Amino acid sequence: MSVTPPPGRPSAETLSDLAKTAWRNNARCIGRLHWNTLELLDARTATSADEVFEACVAHLRFSTNGGRVRSAVTVFAPAEGDERGIRIWNRQLLRYAGYRARDGSVLGDPDQLEFTEKLIGLGWQPPADRGAFDLLPLAIEIPGDRPRLYPLPSDAVLEVPISHPELSWFAGLGLKWHAVPVISDMALVGDGLRFPAAPFSGHYMGTEIASRNFGDESRYNVLPLVADRMGLDRRARRMLWKDRALVELNTAVLHSFREAGVAIVDHHTASAQFVQHLKNEETCGRPVPGDWSWLVPPMSGSACPVFHRYYDSPQPGPAFVDQPRAW
Ligand code: ARG
Repeated sequence: MSVTPPPGRPSAETLSDLAKTAWRNNARCIGRLHWNTLELLDARTATSADEVFEACVAHLRFSTNGGRVRSAVTVFAPAEGDERGIRIWNRQLLRYAGYRARDGSVLGDPDQLEFTEKLIGLGWQPPADRGAFDLLPLAIEIPGDRPRLYPLPSDAVLEVPISHPELSWFAGLGLKWHAVPVISDMALVGDGLRFPAAPFSGHYMGTEIASRNFGDESRYNVLPLVADRMGLDRRARRMLWKDRALVELNTAVLHSFREAGVAIVDHHTASAQFVQHLKNEETCGRPVPGDWSWLVPPMSGSACPVFHRYYDSPQPGPAFVDQPRAW
């Protein structure tokens, strides 16, 4: 006997289909070949901040899975009408603090500077010995209440120290990154419902960490450091020191994740997988929304097949959508 859920409260199966379709519809994601493997963690009954936090920790454990990363979405209660609903203030469940020093330089992730200051304002105490990779606590808001802060239990967080297969000095840079990206500030919208807290995660593509998180000037900005250690002359741009440093940085990230037994995909493989996805979808007669500027990897673009074509831009629903930041 099947139990009919009350109207407006989809069954777990319907909700799972909704989330899978939202992933498949996401124009920015190159990893959509795997859309049908998304696991739903149904947390719609979580009502207190404590329960929401517990479900977030459960998500981390489930998706990390000792390195055999599983794609997952945790769905919390939908918002009624234009109510704010449950909000996780963090952009991702795992992010590193950014601290501004007196001389204007930044320790940690500059992308998290403002949020780190916000958290400190809310009472978070950074470690006495501040570092470049201090995990931020979660800030969880339940309608009608102030946000509550929760430090993450270290046994729920897997991190990978970065070394290089040939350059032995690389490990000495002291770089590391977390194994799983979990986007926690987007809303899942579809079937007339809006879920303002629906953290979702997949596995990493190497360039996300190496080229962007480490390489961007506005992030950890390690290219000059890597180039110097490689003995490259940084005076002339045409010597391509940035490009050479990028290759070694990307090599190091892919190597380190593999060594640690943590799932990650290189941009060539991800690109080929996306082309397979395009074929699959064509067979099903479904258009594939795509945003070229997001799909083309941030290094060696033209060496990846996704570079050599354009994509449909309409954004169908259901969808994961940006929402005004909670703080
Ligand atoms: N680029 C983001 C980061 O570096 C993660 C975005 C989602 N990525 C993914 N592979 N699902 O943390």
